[in-house]
Amino acid sequence: MCGIVGYTGTQDAAPILLDGLKKLEYRGYDSAGIAVMDHNIISVNKVKGRIVSLSEKTSDGASVPGTTGIGHTRWATHGAPTEENAHPHLSNDGRFAIVHNGIIENYMALREELLGDGYVFQSETDTEVIVHLLEMYYRGNVRDALIRTANRLQGSYALGVICSEEPGSIYAVREKSPLILGLGIDENFFASDVTALVNHTRNVIYLEDGEFAELTCDAIRVFDVTGREIIKTPSRILWDVQAAEKGGYEHFMLKEIMEQPAAVKATIAPRIREGEVVFDELKDGPAVISGVRKIIITACGSAYYAGCAGKYALEKLTRIPVEVVLASELRYSDPLIDKDTLVIVISQSGETADTIAAMRECSERGARTLAVVNVVGSTVANIADYTVYTWAGPEIAVATTKGYTTQVTVLYMLSVYFGRALGLIGEDQEKEMTDTLQQLPRLIQQSIDLNPAIPSLAKKYHDSKALFFIGRNTDYAVALEGALKMKEISYLHAEAYAAGELKHGTIALIEEHQPVIALCCNPSIMEKTLSNIVEVKSRGAEVLALTFRNNQKILSVADDLLFIPDVESLFSAVTEIVPLQLLAYHVAKENGCDIDKPKNLAKSVTVE
Ligand code: M6R
Repeated sequence: MCGIVGYTGTQDAAPILLDGLKKLEYRGYDSAGIAVMDHNIISVNKVKGRIVSLSEKTSDGASVPGTTGIGHTRWATHGAPTEENAHPHLSNDGRFAIVHNGIIENYMALREELLGDGYVFQSETDTEVIVHLLEMYYRGNVRDALIRTANRLQGSYALGVICSEEPGSIYAVREKSPLILGLGIDENFFASDVTALVNHTRNVIYLEDGEFAELTCDAIRVFDVTGREIIKTPSRILWDVQAAEKGGYEHFMLKEIMEQPAAVKATIAPRIREGEVVFDELKDGPAVISGVRKIIITACGSAYYAGCAGKYALEKLTRIPVEVVLASELRYSDPLIDKDTLVIVISQSGETADTIAAMRECSERGARTLAVVNVVGSTVANIADYTVYTWAGPEIAVATTKGYTTQVTVLYMLSVYFGRALGLIGEDQEKEMTDTLQQLPRLIQQSIDLNPAIPSLAKKYHDSKALFFIGRNTDYAVALEGALKMKEISYLHAEAYAAGELKHGTIALIEEHQPVIALCCNPSIMEKTLSNIVEVKSRGAEVLALTFRNNQKILSVADDLLFIPDVESLFSAVTEIVPLQLLAYHVAKENGCDIDKPKNLAKSVTVE
């Protein structure tokens, strides 16, 4: 997800663009750029890295004259985070500069066609086809060229465009990626979200899909795909302080879903050095695992499901049996725990009453406790023998999202760390695994970007009587969390079943049009899940499958699809859960639920 911003007015554009990009930086920050137009000359400045580098490069914008411009802050999807791949992109004739947020799905075919026509590409991005199409279709009218270009594009895009033939104009186009116009006095703006506008104006126009806008310093005109003008009514931003903290998102939950790449990165980055997992905070170092004959993971709710997902990696890489036990059950179960048991306690808040009680019970029986916790200084963090923080940052929405993904991430890292300590993983293998772990933030971002269809899928499924989630192995673990997300915020009846268990009872519930969300992200058991999909389909189920983009077998049987990027299945839970979080969010939104504060729930359950 990227951030785009545009300005036309009487002030210097560059400082305003840079300020807007800073507000949008949470959307992506691997590279950034601005294009500013001074009379008929477009000058482009780009950097790899943060907006602060772009500010330095342009002396806070002072070195770039001009009162019209566009800017972009990027989180790479197509092409590495390099200066070449950073936006804005220029047409070969230098006439057009564009910024883009979204994914052009048919860019490969378009690129081939444009290369055949002699256009020269400077980047590996999907975006660059757009600027060459604009050049190709331009016959003296930017609006017509934009419409013809948009007609060729498949996918999602919020576009910002400037053309050297029209100094003083900026153009914006929206299709499945957010874009908001800001109305000022002698100046107008566009941006990916209102946080970038609110310092300048509170009067905004929300562009709809398929709408184009032409902005000059004294007018905004919106038109449709046929070129017909549309009269839009401006809205006024009335923000309370709490809303401002949402960073422009309608809900904390959505903000926190979108923060997951950054949260997982913050959790991983300090703990991988030169191909090795390091936990400086474990005072006994790798000796934590020595002599351990059993690992128990205990937690509540989503933290318990994080344990279910992490168990597979832990067992595979340490060959130590792992039991995942609900804290509320463990505390009264007279558990078989002794000094050779390592108890991993997972909690976002660190204040969950059942979790604390289970932890104390285990300590009394002689086990060592290792806490995976988010809130610094919380009870769980304080009473554990060892504490590993998930660096998710504050999580406000009751439904946890980045809390869960960072917990699973820590379990992945502990698995590798312990496996190496036990001599079960060699140096090369550890290097390979840490490389994969370091890719996770980018892959999570792709899980967001690959699924622009989720809001329309939510419209289809939001009034279902029940939703069933099925999967095997790690997919089953993720299905449990996916179903919980759906239940707690949308109030729909949602249940997760191990796919292989269907014919032992659950399949009796399948009838005509029953939605079944099938997770098929584990190649080693894909065929098995496929058979389960066929079984429910032949009983009338409507199947929404979550799988890899190129998984032809699943694509051909499912009714609807959610995608994850290609990823090693041992570590895939953190990418798989993201589309399910977004689905739950949009279903809840369709149902008019109070998403951040679902009924009957509280963020931190401090009573038994
Ligand atoms: O703060 P904790 O991680 O200990 O909380 C545990 C559960 O209460 C929590 O995960 C709960 O299930 C969430 N509302 C789920 O979204």
